[in-house]
Amino acid sequence: MFHLSMPLFWRVCLINGAVFLLGTLALALSPATVSAQPLLSELVVLLLGLTVIVLVNGALLRAVLRPLDRLTTVMARIDLRYPGLRLDEAGSGPARELVRGFNAMLERLEVERSTSTTRALQAQEAERQRIAQELHDEVGQSLTAVLLGLRYFMDTAPEPVRAELDALRDTTRTSLEEVRRISQRLRPGDLTDLGLVSALAGLARDTSARNGPHVRRRLPSSVPDLPPETELVIYRVVQEALTNVVRHARATTVDLDLSLSDDALVLRVADNGVGIRAGAMGAGIQGMLERARMVGGDLSVRSHGGGGGTEVRLRLPVPAPVLGRAGS
Ligand SMILES: Nc1ncnc2c1ncn2[C@@H]1O[C@H](COP(=O)(O)OP(=O)(O)OP(=O)(O)O)[C@@H](O)[C@H]1O
Ligand SMILES: [Mg+2]
Repeated sequence: MFHLSMPLFWRVCLINGAVFLLGTLALALSPATVSAQPLLSELVVLLLGLTVIVLVNGALLRAVLRPLDRLTTVMARIDLRYPGLRLDEAGSGPARELVRGFNAMLERLEVERSTSTTRALQAQEAERQRIAQELHDEVGQSLTAVLLGLRYFMDTAPEPVRAELDALRDTTRTSLEEVRRISQRLRPGDLTDLGLVSALAGLARDTSARNGPHVRRRLPSSVPDLPPETELVIYRVVQEALTNVVRHARATTVDLDLSLSDDALVLRVADNGVGIRAGAMGAGIQGMLERARMVGGDLSVRSHGGGGGTEVRLRLPVPAPVLGRAGS
């Protein structure tokens, strides 16, 4: 109807101008006249004319402004945590320029958000590495020195003191184990030393061993060589999913599956607990979603309803040449 890039203000002005012009022409060219003291028949004609003007104006403005209402509705649904939603430019009529601008803005925001999240997650990993290293090197070494000292004194101390020293040695040993465990959680050494499958098996064992639900593992004997950051993402997703099961699910068993298909690696952590509220999201789930996105994966967290537990599923596309190396 109008040139597409014409600003909305001018479109409305033009529509109103056209309607007023038609009304004025109708008055000027038709035999209708209005007396100083309008007659009833003249008032009826005026009223009819006014109604026609309002209706025509309304119909024309509706065509222009309805896409804006649709735009407002979709804008309210946009959530940057679930990227990829775009407005339909083709069906937006006169609001097409606005929709195009909005879509471009979303694109920029999503790129910016994903870049800053990646940066934040990388900084978090680096910080975890540093703390793990310090725990291991500083606290771990000091506790080991205390243990050695206690052992020396136990050999020479009289009997009643020896029992006290023995208790102290137990406490120190437990603390040392705890420091090692925290350090291991912060910086998964297993991942680099033993590989992904063993590291995941270790997480499963830890969960069951610490009074958590029984973890049924279905892990392949080997996985293709994956980039270290992808392996770390898989490890962190399993770690968070299992922690969530222990903290929230009240489950008795969890399935931990990792499988290889033609073009993807699929990870599944499914519990038989109370299930999760649709849309429940804390820093943990958000972190899993962002990490998955960082390496081009697709993650979902959902419940099957009726107390059917919760399933975290991560699908990572793996290029064919990498899959070809699996198990070789
Ligand atoms: N396996 C599960 N079973 C039942 N509810 C779950 C499960 N996993 C998550 N939830 C629910 O989803 C919410 C969000 O989980 P999320 O991991 O994002 O945060 P969180 O565990 O509460 O905190 P954190 O930031 O320490 O991870 C939880 O508070 C919990 O209510
Ligand atoms: Mg959590």
